Formats: sequence, structure tokens, C-alpha cells
Amino acid sequence: MAGLWGRDLRVGTAFMDGEHDELIGVLVALEERAVAGDPVACRKLLDDFRAQVEAHFVHEEALMSEHAFYGTRAHAAQHALFLHRLDQLYEDPALVRDPRKVIEFFQTWFALHTVDSDQPLAQWLHGKGLTAGSVP
Ligand SMILES: [Fe+2]
Ligand SMILES: [Fe+2]
Repeated sequence: MAGLWGRDLRVGTAFMDGEHDELIGVLVALEERAVAGDPVACRKLLDDFRAQVEAHFVHEEALMSEHAFYGTRAHAAQHALFLHRLDQLYEDPALVRDPRKVIEFFQTWFALHTVDSDQPLAQWLHGKGLTAGSVP
């Protein structure tokens, strides 16, 4: 699965790419544990993913506010919609045995969100003096 996460989805800001990599890492582990038939580990990884993705959104939104990003409202709305849909998927008790819906949903969403929302935010932050290596 890792090959599906292309480097073209990098935004060029260390903290954002680092947190994206961490999220992808959780989903890679989730798929591995699902293939191994380990629903207990899958439950923990699903919970980890939910917590980490929300923390990532909070981090991005704090920077949007701090640096007066022009697209804050639309970007934050995308985050909220993602969490709403994720929570709907999590209502399925069968998810711990077959979590592919979560992985596929994130892959599709992430590809669009990165180009439409995260890359413009990264460019804005660069313009505010946060360089590619900055970790706010
Ligand atoms: Fe975002
Ligand atoms: Fe992001």
C-alpha cells in the first residue's frame, strides 16, 4: 500500500509532511494487522488514527489562525467534514476486522485535500517566513 502514497503529495513544510507521514504509517500498520487477522490491534490503530488525525487538524487550524490564512474557513470545514464521515465509518462494528473502508476513504480524501487545501496553506506559511524546515 505504501506505494500509493506518492511524494507528489508532499506539501514541502516539515511539520505537515511529518504529521501526514505519521498518519499514513498508522494506516499501513492497520492494513498489516488486518491482513494478519488481529482485530485487537486494529481497534487500537483505528483509535490512534482518529486521535492523531484530529490533533493534526487542530495543529493546522492553529497555524491558519496565527498566520491569518485566507482560506481558513473552507479548510477547517474540510477537516470537520472528514471527521464527521470518519465517525460514521467507525459506527460499523465490523470495521475492526475489515478496516479497508477507512484506508480507502483517507487515501481518496487525502489526495484531494493535499492539493486543494494543505499545499495552499503550506505556500501561505512559506510566505509568512516559515521555511520548509520549520517545525512550529
Ligand atoms: Fe488540512
Ligand atoms: Fe494536513
